Amino acid sequence: EKGTYSHFMLKEIDEQPFVIRKIIQRYQDENNALKLDDKIRKAMQEADRVYIVACGTSYHAGLVGKQFIETLAKIPVEVHVASEFSYNMPILSEKPLFIFISQSGETADSRAVLVKVKALGHRTLTITNVPGSTLSREADFTLHLHAGPEIAVASTKAYTAQMAVLAILAVDTARTKGIELDFDPIQELSIVANAMEILCDQKDEMDKIASEYLSTARNCFFIGRGIDFYVGLEGALKLKEISYIQAEGFAGGELKHGTIALIEEGTPVVAIATQETVNLGIRGNVKEVDARGANSCIISMKGLEQVGDRFVIPAVHELMTPLISVIPLQLIAYYASLQRGCDVDKPRNLAKSVTVE
Ligand code: M6R
Repeated sequence: EKGTYSHFMLKEIDEQPFVIRKIIQRYQDENNALKLDDKIRKAMQEADRVYIVACGTSYHAGLVGKQFIETLAKIPVEVHVASEFSYNMPILSEKPLFIFISQSGETADSRAVLVKVKALGHRTLTITNVPGSTLSREADFTLHLHAGPEIAVASTKAYTAQMAVLAILAVDTARTKGIELDFDPIQELSIVANAMEILCDQKDEMDKIASEYLSTARNCFFIGRGIDFYVGLEGALKLKEISYIQAEGFAGGELKHGTIALIEEGTPVVAIATQETVNLGIRGNVKEVDARGANSCIISMKGLEQVGDRFVIPAVHELMTPLISVIPLQLIAYYASLQRGCDVDKPRNLAKSVTVE
């Protein structure tokens, strides 16, 4: 039920802080030890490489998951778009573990890969919001997102839940392997939940940004470097699917290799700048597009902000930024969709779960 909300999407955006807290609660016991099936633990420990397979938003969560698993658990990870994987199978490692990320658990492209790798005898884990779903039943193991039903076609709370569960999986593996971490990622997830609340309270500002930058836009670019680039991909997908504005996410450094030719007077460019190591680089990219007339909108993080940034998100650990930097992008897409009179929850040509290959 939508309750007082006009759209499921807005309700689901607002639910994100609660979902993150629920995930922490479900995966951590009273002594702060993580509760994960021993079989999943063993599968992660024995894997010499993790292959993440997913589509759309879940694929974008997988890209961030790769950062978590590689940084914290020190296992190499490849992330694949499911529809490409079947005929473009990479050379597999000796002990691969396949992780399927799927909100619905019914995505046919992902299932096709699951069937294929299972037939080859490989281990499979599904991360899903629907435990009884096809992908959950058919994989060896399941991790539940605990996000509650997601009704809007545009995925929001499932995306942040997927990243939170991937973080927990990565931390658990690190702990099991005896890898010392210099911060407590679970504690950081609670900080994330609080930051999400602050962002969800700033809807009027997002409404304004959407009308300032997107009311007459034909296209829009999202740029970022490192982990911010992955969030840019998600921001672009959100915007295009519900507002029908042509939008693309790009790695900041890649612009000059072609895409910058598309920048004209007034082209909106949203830059995500939450990472200290690439702050100079992404700001350099903004200067490049500004010099070509772009209407740039920098979304930065407290501590790294500069005069002229359009919006500043609260500070969280550098690895966790995607969980909160995506919220302004979700809200901007939501308001752009509203302002253009589109059907926010049921955009044209799309279905909530895609059960054909
Ligand atoms: O149910 P799944 O997570 O497997 O769905 C994958 C994609 O179809 C889905 O994320 C899609 O991209 C969303 N509509 C994006 O908002």
